[in-house]
Parts: sequence; structure tokens; C-alpha cells
Amino acid sequence: METKSNIPNILIVDDEIGPRESLRMILKPYYNVFSVESGYAANQMIQQIEFDVITLDLKMPGISGIDTLKEIRRIDQDVMVIIVTGYGTLQSAIEAIRYGVFDYIPKPFNVPEIISMIDKAIQRRRLNLKIKGFLKNYFDQLPPKEPAIDSNISLHNGIKGVNDPQWDDAGLSDSRNCLEFAKVLAYTLEEKDPYTSGHSERVCYYSDFISKRLSLPSKDRNEIQIASYLHDIGKVGISNRFINKKGTLTPTDWAIIKQHTKKSIELLAPLKLSPNIISFIQNHHEHFDGTGYPDRLAGEQIPLGARIIAISDSYDSMTSERAYRKPLSNGEAKNELLKHSGKQFDPNLISIFLDVLREMDEVFLVKNNQKVISISY
Ligand SMILES: [Fe+2]
Repeated sequence: METKSNIPNILIVDDEIGPRESLRMILKPYYNVFSVESGYAANQMIQQIEFDVITLDLKMPGISGIDTLKEIRRIDQDVMVIIVTGYGTLQSAIEAIRYGVFDYIPKPFNVPEIISMIDKAIQRRRLNLKIKGFLKNYFDQLPPKEPAIDSNISLHNGIKGVNDPQWDDAGLSDSRNCLEFAKVLAYTLEEKDPYTSGHSERVCYYSDFISKRLSLPSKDRNEIQIASYLHDIGKVGISNRFINKKGTLTPTDWAIIKQHTKKSIELLAPLKLSPNIISFIQNHHEHFDGTGYPDRLAGEQIPLGARIIAISDSYDSMTSERAYRKPLSNGEAKNELLKHSGKQFDPNLISIFLDVLREMDEVFLVKNNQKVISISY
């Protein structure tokens, strides 16, 4: 199917002819616009045309909006999806977040708002592709993973520094672009492991809820968001043989897995991120009672961002499926958090997080009731 080159391709997916056609008429002067009335037709079309942005109605007969979104993500990791819905419930939104959406817009449309949102989505996709291209080059240059405990993956070797023209071009000095970079880096790594897909995004989502409840200034919130995306980035230097091992971990397995915090810092050093972001990442496995790693910090010695990420990370790990275990139910995960409040976790932050979860209870999917054998690593 032919499209006008250099003009962004937009796909509208909506079963209702009114909103579908009005959106098509709004966007037609600016973009190559295609429209379909079902998730099935959308899935057919995205296999023929590379789209920049898809606007997706969540409530459709046949294949639902969420199932369409899952299929879109399977076929195209890079397309920006904007949910357009007249019935945007929080439950649908949270479910959609799991599969990566750019933004939401309610019906009826506000014309300047949707045009501005689509323009931002196009810019975001271009930046993401640029960063992804850079990362691909970078990871292609990494030596193969070494599983041994003393393996010292030299994450500095071969990396192009921040002064490389490609970095300057991507504008990573800007904090907003830095957050985008963090997201793309996390997605690129998580794509390789279906068990962690979306993990960092959900950690960021939960962490930001806690940050908002604490009324943290936007700079602090932004740094915690960036650290949430990057908290486990060092696992790229640890073999999946250890990360996804079934059964009991030996002391040697633990020693290897625990190296991921150090490896994260090594990997990120050339990016010259703020010391706060680095400390949040380095210390997200410290325990409130001082028994964690790597620095055995205790209480408020542990940076606030690290204490927040520790809770979000554990909650999402417990409620997500892993290669070695089934997920905990929402209630069981909350009980685990409570059980470890004051020991592993900051008790004040636990009570804030449990309040947030309580308010959102009706929108969290109740998962099955099987027990897990460990909290998270
Ligand atoms: Fe971790």
C-alpha cells in the first residue's frame, strides 16, 4: 500500500463511524490518515504499513481495544498509541499501561489538543528510534555475557561518550529527553525477556504515585522516574541463567545477582546522570533495617528515591509472573509488604503505598493465589 513519503502515517481504530470520520477529517490536512472499524482490520493494516501513531478506541466489539493493543505491540514496538475513548476507566488505563500507550484523549475531541498530542507522539517516536539506533550499535559492541562471579563486563569499553555527536543530536542533556532515553533503554532490554516486559514502566508508575503523595517537587519526581526505569539496567551484564533460575538460589547465585546494582552504575557512568539518580539505582536493594545491599545503609541513610523504588519494584515483581514462579495475588503481595514493613521497607512509605493501592483496589486485577518463594532481586 502506497503512502506519501515524509508525511507521518496515522491509523484511526474506532468502531463508531461518527468519531472515526470526524477524527479523520481533523487529521487529514496534516497526515496520511487511514481508518479502520475493528481491531482485526487494524492488525491486518499494521502488517502492511509502518505507522507513526495509532489512535485506538478501547471499547469495540470483536477484538477488544486492549487485545488489539497487545497485538499492535507484538507486531510493532515503536508505534505510538493514543487511547481515544468515551469510557476511559482507570482499570482500562492501568491495563493499557502494561502494553505501553503514549497518552489518552476523551471523546468528544478537542481539535487543538489532539493535533498537539499527535505531533508530540510523532516527535517522541523519532527520538525513540534515534536512541534505539544508538543503543543497538552500543549493545552490538558489548562482549558476550560472562556468567562467572568475577566476570567484569567492561561496560565502558566501546561505549560512545556523551560528547559523541549522536548523543548531542538526541539532546540527552534535557531532563525530559533523559527520561525518554531511560524508557527506551529499559524497553530495549525488557524486550529480550518476556517475564520482565513492562516491569520498569510499572515501577515508575507506582513510584510516581508515592512521590505525588509526598508532594515531592517536580525535579525530585523526575529523578525518581528516571531511576525507576533504569534501576535494574545492570542485569544486562548478568546471565539469564541466574536471573530466571527456577528453584532455590545458591549463595553463589545470589552473589552474582547482587552484582547488578554495581553493573548498573558502571553502565550508566558515561551518561553523567545526577548523583541522586545514581544513588537511587545503587541503593534500591538496601533494607530499612540495614541488612540489604550493596552498602548496608539503614533508615534514612537510604536515599528517599531508593526507598520508594524498593517498594514499587518488590510489589510489581511479586504480582508479575516470572520464569521460576507464578504471581502473588494483590492481597498476598500487600501482606508481604506489611510483613516486611520496618525491616526491608520504610514503614511510612509502606503505609502511603498501601493507601494508594487501597484506593485503586477495584482496578487491580486479582491474580491467582499461588505463593512465591522470594520477594524480589
Ligand atoms: Fe534490582
